[in-house]
Amino acid sequence: MVSIKTEKDIEAMRPACHHAADTLVMIEPYIKAGITTDDINDLVHEFTIKAGGTPAPLNYHGFPKSVCTSVNHVVCHGIPANKKLNDGDIVNVDVTTIMNGWHGDTSKTISVGAPKIKAEKVVETARKALQLGIAQVRPGATLGDIGHAIQNYVEGERMSVVREYCGHGIGRVFHEDPQVLHYGKPDTGMTLKKGMVFTIEPMINMGKPDLKILSDKWTAVTEDSSLSAQFEHTLCVTDSGVEVMTRLEGRTPF
Ligand code: MF3
Ligand code: CO
Ligand code: CO
Repeated sequence: MVSIKTEKDIEAMRPACHHAADTLVMIEPYIKAGITTDDINDLVHEFTIKAGGTPAPLNYHGFPKSVCTSVNHVVCHGIPANKKLNDGDIVNVDVTTIMNGWHGDTSKTISVGAPKIKAEKVVETARKALQLGIAQVRPGATLGDIGHAIQNYVEGERMSVVREYCGHGIGRVFHEDPQVLHYGKPDTGMTLKKGMVFTIEPMINMGKPDLKILSDKWTAVTEDSSLSAQFEHTLCVTDSGVEVMTRLEGRTPF
């Protein structure tokens, strides 16, 4: 069942969404060769607690850290560890903040130092895939329209869309209905209505879409070890279209 949020609910979600977005702005200057993913975790954790929030990943279904950090061929749900980033790596930082009982969820893939050409290509493809998905959102469009826009673009770039994970409804609950697939056919699936709040978060692989889960039960990696990138926003359907709730006024949007 898909919940419809009132104007009041959406207003109540803004602090969590803005804080998650602020966290990505805070962390970006620290993403340099030599920083560990544990350092990223500690910075995100402190920043969230100081603002009166709670990092949603911590203890979520047993996840042991406060943020997901997914490096190079890691598709998603990378667990921060005592592992240094190197120049040329790409790392997705996925932040979810709880404030006043509401969730805000956003992620971006950041290059460490100067990006290699291949890395830049997959990062830019993932970024544009999210934008094209968002551009479909308005009352009367369907979830299939979003998935199709993403899949059509990504496969045209000879890259692939991960199938095992999807965007999701979000609110007082971290992951709720609907499932927002990043592939599909136009005019299929649920019709969007004003007040629906969900994420779009395509995971894009340079090689094949297949993945495997490491023995830690969380870390998803590409089966062919190709690079993977992801961007994520939390958004709501408005009267006239879409509001990207994790996008900050006056900041470089992604
Ligand atoms: N933030 C992820 C998402 O976009 C979910 C992470 S769940 C965790 O849905 F437990 F790994 F943190
Ligand atoms: Co997320
Ligand atoms: Co999400």
